[in-house]
Amino acid sequence: MKFFVDSASIDEIREAKALGVLAGVTTNPSLVAKEGVSFHDRLKEITAEVDGSVSAEVISEDAEGMLKEAEELAVIAPNITIKVPMTLEGLKAVKSLSEKHIKTNVTLIFSANQALLAARAGATYVSPFLGRLDDIGHNGIDLIAQISNIFNIHDIHTEIIAASIRHPMHVTEAAANGAHIATVPLKVLKSLVKHPLTDQGIEKFLADWNQQK
Ligand code: E4P
Repeated sequence: MKFFVDSASIDEIREAKALGVLAGVTTNPSLVAKEGVSFHDRLKEITAEVDGSVSAEVISEDAEGMLKEAEELAVIAPNITIKVPMTLEGLKAVKSLSEKHIKTNVTLIFSANQALLAARAGATYVSPFLGRLDDIGHNGIDLIAQISNIFNIHDIHTEIIAASIRHPMHVTEAAANGAHIATVPLKVLKSLVKHPLTDQGIEKFLADWNQQK
């Protein structure tokens, strides 16, 4: 499983990149709004920084509007992926974009049927939202496992991005259940490094080293 960072903050993206594990970036309208900057300018900065896929979400609700936005976003850089919501209009837009060989990430996936439809419309990625499912008493990881199983049975090559990741166990379980990618907030990415026994081990090694004669 690869790591994307879920952020529109250029500082956070640079920090994640410096860790050496960054394969891509996902943004969404809420993350961009928090930044208070021009969306297109920020995408230029991000795509100049990161070689992998950079998801940029459309906000139109009709396929025609989505396609118009997608055209404007896709010219920013070759690694832009158009993030499209899981709706009937979104599916139409994904089909059309896939015919033009423009990469798509179908977002707000909460069921296996939605993932299957998105894949059949030609989506490059599907993004099931783990945390938001857990929030309403469902099991987000079960959804990842179900989608992974269906994609394997039917030889579907759409990649699964585990999204709405809230804590380290989401990451481990997404990897163990077949997600190709986890898109994680920087805070969660950094927390994956931490283990109390690692900290204790370093402390003991340093104490022993400093006591040598
Ligand atoms: C993914 O592409 C989304 O931007 C993101 O993971 C949503 O996470 P949230 O549910 O924490 O807002």
